Amino acid sequence: MSVSQRQRQYLAAMGIPVWVSRDEGALPAEEAGSAAARGEDAESRWQALEARVAACTRCELHKSRTQTVFGTGSHEARLLVIGEAPGADEDRQGEPFVGRAGRLLNEMLLAIGLRRETVYIANILKCRPPNNRDPRPEEVVSCEPWLKGQIDLLQPQVILAVGRIAAQNLLKRDERIGAMRGRVHHYGEARIPVIVTYHPAYLLRSPKEKRKAWEDLKKVRQFLASSPGA
Ligand code: URA
Repeated sequence: MSVSQRQRQYLAAMGIPVWVSRDEGALPAEEAGSAAARGEDAESRWQALEARVAACTRCELHKSRTQTVFGTGSHEARLLVIGEAPGADEDRQGEPFVGRAGRLLNEMLLAIGLRRETVYIANILKCRPPNNRDPRPEEVVSCEPWLKGQIDLLQPQVILAVGRIAAQNLLKRDERIGAMRGRVHHYGEARIPVIVTYHPAYLLRSPKEKRKAWEDLKKVRQFLASSPGA
């Protein structure tokens, strides 16, 4: 049973301790802060976050998933790629972008000199929506703390949002992808630069748009070249 903030205050005032389950308790971003204060190393925090995602039942999607798809890549990555949600291949293998679209994403990254293992790849949703339907708003809200936790841990120098769903949900905008790409957006208090591009699955269907995606990728390359650690 969940205990409300007010109940918690009453119980605390009466001197009754309240036990809070990890999933009900502090959000990953808050925990990340206190874990850092406790001196826990970053790898332990990544592991703890991944374990929480694996046990997540915050939305209905946990009922139909084969497994959660947390994210993959280097914890030292300077580039974070964010997609929409796992598809059938990803749900089966537990890794984002492993199907045809994933192979194109790998090629796109290689085109700017980045091997997949050197970047970090995650999705807005950690569980596959049935029949690959679009994520529902309540699913995005439920899943948001996990992505935020990943961004807090990674602190990337630039984020590449691939596809309309990723861009709209990350940036909290309701614009068409054509209107969102071609300029630099920012995420969070740290104002991490965000570049928006087409989803590789769309590029497989509309190869003519690859030219525009290349322009977006060159912007990512510029950011990486001009930021510390380049
Ligand atoms: N499409 C996405 O947006 N993410 C994946 O992980 C796979 C396909």
